[in-house]
Order: sequence, then structure tokens, then C-alpha cells
Amino acid sequence: MSDTTFSPGLAGVIAGETAIACVDQGKLLYRGYAIADLAENTTFEETAHLLLFGNLPNQADLDAFKKKLDSYRPLPKALVDTLRPIPKDVPMMDVLRTGVSMAGHFDPVKDPDALQERAVWLTAQIGGIIAARFRLLNDQEPIEPKAGLSHAAQVLYQAQGEEPDELSAKLLDLTLILYAEHDFNASTFTARVICSTMSDMVSAIVGGIGALKGPLHGGANEAAMEMLEQFKTADEAKAWIADALANKGKIMGFGHRVYKNGDHRATILERELRKLAKQKGQEQWMDIYDAIKDPMVNDKKIYPNVDYPCGLTYYILGLPLDLYTPLFVASRVTGWAAHFIEQAGDNRIYRPLSIYTGAKDTLVPAIENR
Ligand code: CMC
Repeated sequence: MSDTTFSPGLAGVIAGETAIACVDQGKLLYRGYAIADLAENTTFEETAHLLLFGNLPNQADLDAFKKKLDSYRPLPKALVDTLRPIPKDVPMMDVLRTGVSMAGHFDPVKDPDALQERAVWLTAQIGGIIAARFRLLNDQEPIEPKAGLSHAAQVLYQAQGEEPDELSAKLLDLTLILYAEHDFNASTFTARVICSTMSDMVSAIVGGIGALKGPLHGGANEAAMEMLEQFKTADEAKAWIADALANKGKIMGFGHRVYKNGDHRATILERELRKLAKQKGQEQWMDIYDAIKDPMVNDKKIYPNVDYPCGLTYYILGLPLDLYTPLFVASRVTGWAAHFIEQAGDNRIYRPLSIYTGAKDTLVPAIENR
């Protein structure tokens, strides 16, 4: 292979085939269904079923799927006890990574080839791990799941001890649908690379969490809100963004490797965010939001990605910052698992090449001469 095929960040490189998702003329499709259609007409559970099993569930499928999720939600006591001594200043994503790894030692799905079943179990466990850590951080005991709640409502219920209102559960559900899958993004690619060595699904999900955590990827929802949170007025935000752009700063929640003319998911979520802000009497946040967005879009032609409206949506819903990226995981685990299953079904180990830029012909000096 010649050097001319090198593309930093693998930009523009086709690294595999998938039937799970694609961006078609700027619009994201999950298994052929437009994300806007799924956002409007399905719940997260239906979308998760679509990703994991390849079809939208009928009512009986959906009921069985939800029942299975409920049956897999309780965490092993040993897992919760592992979370207890973790220092409080350890970031939630690190704890989630450890928690999922620990869960792997208690995998109730004994058949190594029962990948869809394992994916359902992992999806259920992840919500519980996030909630348990959240409670321990607040000096509260983790609480048992309540059967019958949606995945979104369940995480909030187990974290906050009370069922969320309908609007919060619905909006969180929407973000989970939007976050569930996005073809060969960094964390999914990580999961597929791990799968390609014939490693196991838990390892792939743990790897995915590690990749998603970074602020250039899933960590951007938290980072975007941290940016917005520093402003009290739109004027403060305007002054800050002018300065940041003059200094070529990177603005979290903007830009995308695939969408250069806007992320459709951000448009869908922003519409709901505006309604939410109005309903909650928090429209001042939209002024601040727009004060950052307008110069990015109008002057820089860099558009918000889904993480920009998502950070503020979670904030107005009253969710603590620490939960934002873990909530992304609570959803994306389904996409990762779907890709694991697809990769395992038609596998070839990922092993790209590199261009060596180091020294050659170097001789080992005697130890006393180093
Ligand atoms: N703020 C300021 N400038 C930007 C931004 C941004 N957020 N994004 C891209 N640019 C500039 C970039 O500096 C570059 O300028 P120049 O050509 O002068 O060097 C130009 O736009 C092209 O960008 P790029 O670096 O080629 O984009 P990329 O495809 O390598 O990176 C990205 C994509 C998402 C990592 C990047 O846009 C970024 O760092 N955004 C901020 C972090 C973020 O919001 N991440 C969430 C991604 S989407 C959902 C998810 O995965 O969670």
C-alpha cells in the first residue's frame, strides 16, 4: 500500500460495511428508517429492538423485550459493593467503565453465542450502574428498579428516587433515540475492532465507553453545557464566542466529521428544546444558546451537532452534568452491540498499517553509556 492512501483520522476512509445505519443525503437512517420518523413515532425501546433484532417490534415483541429488560435490571450486590469505595472525585464515565467490566463477571447469559440476549442484559445493567453511582455519590443507597418503566424513566427513577414527570421522560427518551446509533463513529469503531479479534461483547462495550468519554465524542454534551453554564446573559456569551473564534478556539457541541451542513439530530432536538425552555420559563437559556450558535453558523459555517442541544436539554430537565455522557452510553450500548453482532457475523481482524516516522538503524548502546 502506498503512502498516498494515508488519511489522518481515517477521514474519508471506508473501513467496513454495515446494514445498521448510514447518513443518506445528510439524513441519518437506522436500518433504513429515517431518524426523524423514529424520533416522532417510536420509543427508545422500539428503536433499540430495531437495532438489536433488525426489525421494529410488534406489540407482543415489544412487551417481551421490555419484560426482558426489566428482568435484567437488578445489579449483582458484588457489583454495587465494588462501586462503593471508588473515590467521589472519579468521573462518572470512569466508574461506568469499571461497573460494566465488573458486570461482565456476573453475565447471566451462559451461551457465548447468545449475542442479542447479552446485548439486552448489558443495556439493562448500564442504566442501573449509572443510577447506583449517582446515588452513592449523594450518600444514598442504590434503589431497586421498578418494573414497567421505560428505559429513560427507569434511569431517572433509580437515580433520583422518584419517577420523572411525563415531559422529562419523553424528552430523555427522544435523546436516547437520537443517540442510539451512528455507523462507524469512534466508539463504535473501537467496539468493532475489539470484536474483530474474536474478543467478547463486554470488552467491546467497555472499550466503547472509553472512546465515547472524550470531549471530541460523547463527552461533548457535558462540555457544551459547561461552556454555556458560565454565561449569565446573551451579551456575555456573544463577547466570549467572538474572543474564542478570534483565538481559533474549539467550540464544544459544534462540527462533525460526517455532517458538514448540519446534524439533523440537532435540528430535531433543538425544536423540542425550545418548547421545553418556554414551558419551564427558562427562555433566557435559548438567548445564550443562540448567542453562541449564530456566529458559529453564520460566520464560521460550523453547525451544532446533537450534543449542543442535548447538553442544555438535560440541564433544563434538572439533570446533573455528570449524568450527561453516561446517558449517551445508556443508549449507544444498543448501537455498539448491534455492530458487535454484525462484525462477529462476518469477521476479519482489523489490522491497518502505519507510516513509520521514527529513526532507523539505531544501535543499542551498553547500559552504562545510555
Ligand atoms: N469549533 C471550532 N472550530 C471547529 C469546530 C468546533 N467545534 N469543529 C471543527 N472546526 C474547524 C476545525 O478547526 C477545522 O478548521 P481548520 O480547517 O481551520 O483547521 C475545520 O473546522 C474542519 O474541522 P475538522 O477538524 O476537519 O473536523 P473533524 O472532522 O476532524 O472533527 C469533530 C470533527 C466533531 C471532532 C470537531 O468538529 C470537534 O472537535 N467538535 C467539537 C467537539 C464535539 O462537539 N464533538 C461531538 C461530535 S458529534 C456527536 C458525538 O460524537 O458525540
